[in-house]
Amino acid sequence: MKSSYCVADTKDYFSGNLRTTNYYSFQALKKATKNFSETNLLGKGGFGPVYLGKLDDGQLVAVKKLALEKSQQGEAEFLSEVKMITSIQHKNLVRLLGCCSEGPQRLLVYEYMKNRSLDLIIYGKTDQYLDWNTRFQIILGIARGLQYLHEDSHIRIVHRDIKASNILLDDKFQPRIGDFGLARFFPEDQAYLSTTFAGTLGYTAPEYAIRGQLSEKADIYSFGVLVLEIISCRKNTNLNLPLEMQYLPEYAWKLYERSKLIELVDPRMRNAGFIEKDVMQTIHVALLCLQAKANIRPPMSEIVAMLTWKVEMVKSPSKPTFLDRKNRWKNEKHSWETVSADFPSNLESESPCLTPPPNSRDFTASQSFSGTMVNV
Ligand SMILES: Nc1ncnc2c1ncn2[C@@H]1O[C@H](COP(=O)(O)OP(=O)(O)O)[C@@H](O)[C@H]1O
Ligand SMILES: [Mg+2]
Repeated sequence: MKSSYCVADTKDYFSGNLRTTNYYSFQALKKATKNFSETNLLGKGGFGPVYLGKLDDGQLVAVKKLALEKSQQGEAEFLSEVKMITSIQHKNLVRLLGCCSEGPQRLLVYEYMKNRSLDLIIYGKTDQYLDWNTRFQIILGIARGLQYLHEDSHIRIVHRDIKASNILLDDKFQPRIGDFGLARFFPEDQAYLSTTFAGTLGYTAPEYAIRGQLSEKADIYSFGVLVLEIISCRKNTNLNLPLEMQYLPEYAWKLYERSKLIELVDPRMRNAGFIEKDVMQTIHVALLCLQAKANIRPPMSEIVAMLTWKVEMVKSPSKPTFLDRKNRWKNEKHSWETVSADFPSNLESESPCLTPPPNSRDFTASQSFSGTMVNV
């Protein structure tokens, strides 16, 4: 088992493990982002706004202004968290260049990714079209990045927020996962969880949504949803579509049962040509990730092996599970308890969990094995 993270001495925060953590003055970042101007705003997520910045040496960066109060986290703790994130390095993870901590301000500086994020493309905010090879390269890259976070890095990290807007794309459309490790900055009572979480419900594994059971398997579920989005070029939930198409995993399963999975594929890609065998294999892998029982979802290393045909896919998926927001979530008659009844736990000693999931920012490797993760 890998060691969980402990707060390190912050005196040496200028040198990360292998990569250096740069320190930027607030003034420099203010200048780089034209005083955090609206025109430089790249987007706003649960952790705070992100601005495009140009440093004095001409380098483009993305500056994330954390929506944190100073009282919530001391400087030393902040710097050691930054150092920890900087030490997690992989070609499919976005590079954290450094940070700024001045007065109440806490900012993170990332490399700027020229093609921004995947949501802009697959949700049609740009008219950019990605062919199958590029889409597959993106899917495989995300899988490798997640494999690194879950299995290979020195600290085991559950991302918790795998979604299209957290997949950043470089100039060659190579993907890098963004926002990993950030949940650690936010204390339990922060609205982060309720807003971000509710906003990305369609990606959320049922055992996490209902019982707050967080493990790598929750990321693997989100990955499955994301793969279907990339192949079909649509959002996981779209209430404007005909009823049976509204929830992407549900729709994919219906097509699978009817042996019509091909209908899931983005029509533009169908016209432009693709290798059907590869696309079908990838959809099958996605369905394996969406299975109701977390423990039968394959680990990321197996997913990478299946995607690259290194192992034969022997399992056939069982019916995926999904929470449909319209009927179960917003309807007040449906409490956590009634939703839970749809997804019974295998755990003998567990009492019903009627509260929304806790923010498990203090999740560590040891908790995952001693807690409720294993037998979901
Ligand atoms: N390093 C980056 N390079 C380019 N664009 C970025 C970068 N980081 C974030 N963005 C853009 O800013 C948006 C907002 O980011 P974020 O605050 O992480 O919110 P969210 O991930 O919830 O959409 C992202 O969706 C992406 O389009
Ligand atoms: Mg993000």
